[in-house]
Amino acid sequence: MLFGVVVTLALLITGSVAVFTKGLRVLGAIAIVFALIVPVFGITQTRILVGDFHTLIRVAHLLVGAAAVSLTERIGEHYMQIKQKLVAGKEVVKASGLAPAEGRDATVG
Ligand code: HEM
Repeated sequence: MLFGVVVTLALLITGSVAVFTKGLRVLGAIAIVFALIVPVFGITQTRILVGDFHTLIRVAHLLVGAAAVSLTERIGEHYMQIKQKLVAGKEVVKASGLAPAEGRDATVG
């Protein structure tokens, strides 16, 4: 259960960063909603379908957990791509000399 809580917290933190990142807002919102559903399902699972079919709930819990891990990974990958593109773009602008250099006005010279 501790592992599950850590995974869920990771999803919540990743989702929170994503909603404030342009291009990742929808995925971030999904992650936050999902991070709220996972613990509710985790805690209540022992009371759902008690009996022979409880294995289904255990499998569902595992799948929901795996989805949480996968979503965290996906957001992480997208986030890295967005940030790398941003840095690359800034470097191109810097190399082209279009950006104002420190202490100098770009319009002059
Ligand atoms: C805050 C979120 C979570 C809570 C509160 C929670 C809670 C629990 C509880 C109470 C059990 C024992 C179930 C039983 O005795 O039948 C359990 C088992 C388990 N959980 Fe979680 N869980 C959470 C998230 C996760 C996540 C994200 C994963 C996967 C990445 C995960 C994987 C597992 C596994 C593999 C088991 C053991 C298999 C089983 O007994 O069915 N859990 N969890």
